[in-house]
Amino acid sequence: MPKRDLISIEDLSRAHVELLLDTAESFLPVLERDIKKVPTLRGRTIISLFWEPSTRTSSSFDLAAKRLSADTLGLKAKGSAVEKGETLKDTAITLSAYSPDIIVMRHPSAGACQTLSQNTEASVINAGDGTHQHPTQCLLDLFSLRQNLGRDLGGLRVFIIGDILHSRVARSDIMGFQMLGMEVTLVAPPTLMPRGIEEMGVKVEYDLANLKDADVIYLLRIQQERVEAGANYLPSLREYSELYGISQARLRPGQRVMHPGPINRGVEIASDIADDDENLIAHQVFSGLAVRMAILYRTIVGYSDGVASEEVL
Ligand code: CP
Repeated sequence: MPKRDLISIEDLSRAHVELLLDTAESFLPVLERDIKKVPTLRGRTIISLFWEPSTRTSSSFDLAAKRLSADTLGLKAKGSAVEKGETLKDTAITLSAYSPDIIVMRHPSAGACQTLSQNTEASVINAGDGTHQHPTQCLLDLFSLRQNLGRDLGGLRVFIIGDILHSRVARSDIMGFQMLGMEVTLVAPPTLMPRGIEEMGVKVEYDLANLKDADVIYLLRIQQERVEAGANYLPSLREYSELYGISQARLRPGQRVMHPGPINRGVEIASDIADDDENLIAHQVFSGLAVRMAILYRTIVGYSDGVASEEVL
């Protein structure tokens, strides 16, 4: 099987992204059946390494692999030989002895997936590496938008609000949203806005004065583990919430709210939005399963075939 890494959203062309989204759509009927399993990847081996905490990404990759009948093996840093000082290179060499088809990895360091890829014949899928990229989150976000707002996302105006500086989701989403023709505005306090980010073709704002212009409001988690680490990014979470937190009072009718999770209730998102059925947050989680099934499938079979539902069902 040729090696097909997915490390950055830049690894994909627009045609690849659209094929992945179409493939994910073709898996939806499987997820509605009583028996939610197909033999598509029977005999394939998928290893997941989560060296950083995760609920959504780890559970959806695991379930996606199982829905496709692949053999799965999941490791976390705690309890693995990482605790004894084993390097990523040696972990890659060790696990490659099992001839896995795919290794999915989340890691606290940007660039770790590239290191992994250089030391294994398996295809590597980035499940989030430091502040670098989270391409599968971007793909599920695009899928959720397409399912809820229509297939043509061109011209849609998205405001990404929050801790842009530390956000791998923002980096992937900016690229993916623009690839499908969306207009991206970033909003953050100056301390959480990366310098020179305008070069990515986004608008940059430091308050919510123009929030009414947004069709979609994409909130990012204030990464308290980084913000509270003594770097003085914010005077206080309360002040952040007052200036940038989104509650119903700040929305106009028709605006849809997204968040990759986990959320900080009362910081970037008020409970009256977090608990509102109109937000897309639960749909994003649901989309994660179908999209990650599509990613695993396309990583194995390639991107050259068209999508026919009987192909995967
Ligand atoms: N959105 C996201 O990556 O969530 P997890 O950290 O729970 O995987």
